[in-house]
Amino acid sequence: MIDPRALPKAELHVHIEGTFEPAQIFEFAKRNSVTLSYPNVAALEDAYKFTDLQSFLNLYYAAMAAIRTERDFEDLTTAYLRRAQAQGVRHAEIFFDPQAHLERGLSFETVIDGLWSALQRSESDFGMTTALIMCFLRDQPEASAMETLELALPYRDKIIGVGLDSVELGNPPSKFQAVFDRARANGFLTVAHAGEEGPPEYVWEALNLLKVSRVDHGVRSMEDPTLVAHLAETQIPLTVCPLSNVRLRVVDRMQDHPLKRMLDAGLRATVNSDDPAYFGGYVADNYRAVFDALGLTDADLVRLARNSFESSFIDDERKQRYIGEIDGLVATAP
Ligand code: ADE
Ligand code: ZN
Repeated sequence: MIDPRALPKAELHVHIEGTFEPAQIFEFAKRNSVTLSYPNVAALEDAYKFTDLQSFLNLYYAAMAAIRTERDFEDLTTAYLRRAQAQGVRHAEIFFDPQAHLERGLSFETVIDGLWSALQRSESDFGMTTALIMCFLRDQPEASAMETLELALPYRDKIIGVGLDSVELGNPPSKFQAVFDRARANGFLTVAHAGEEGPPEYVWEALNLLKVSRVDHGVRSMEDPTLVAHLAETQIPLTVCPLSNVRLRVVDRMQDHPLKRMLDAGLRATVNSDDPAYFGGYVADNYRAVFDALGLTDADLVRLARNSFESSFIDDERKQRYIGEIDGLVATAP
């Protein structure tokens, strides 16, 4: 088997707040004099037993209380870049959730300046290119998303696109049509979580109403043959997160995961980590988990890595350079 960590890859679905490791949560809480509701790291980790997306989000938002300063965002991001580099990531498109920080009284500037301080050193320090995608919280009113978009406009050069995350059921993409229209008019690319817990209809809405360039998760698309045919025809990428899907009970066991069926149906599926500090592994760990559980081949892993660059928002020249790195690895593999 190819070592998944050796395979050059792009990570297209990772929430920076989901890379907040338990030890770091306590470190930040201490330096910011924030009191957590868990006495220690072991007690916190013991709570990482999720029954669905909502049960995870409750903890995910609670942990953010420990993030207070620009330096916190910088340190969080630098720590992610270091781990991603060790997982063979050559390019990362990173989600962040500004509304979750604004509602705690932090400024947009604190968030973006902290993230940016780390990202501007990603090439020199970690040999990785990066981009930022700002997500709207779909369980908040559309007006809040619109206000957040206004705050982001002065930082247009630092944010490549907008996305949609948080509680999916009951919050269809159609709720955000106007804000996505405005985002696209201002030059942002668009993506959206859809078909994670929500039905295939939400994937159709993300495509038709939000005009997304990629669908995040999208695993429930497999329930709608017409949608599968459409995704195969258009080659709209899907950013699949296998360990997340098991931990949030989207699928019962990794052996039941639809990734192999998605590839066999000709979909442009990629493998990503989502919230790696919470779900038991970073991106190469996800590659390994699907390889082991779904009987994938080395050729499948290479296909997934190629798909990751082809699905990314980098220019064609860079794409070809990164795909050339994969070809180089394959050519020298025993
Ligand atoms: N926010 C962080 N991770 C998420 C996920 N898997 N689904 C929806 N919103 C999220
Ligand atoms: Zn996600």
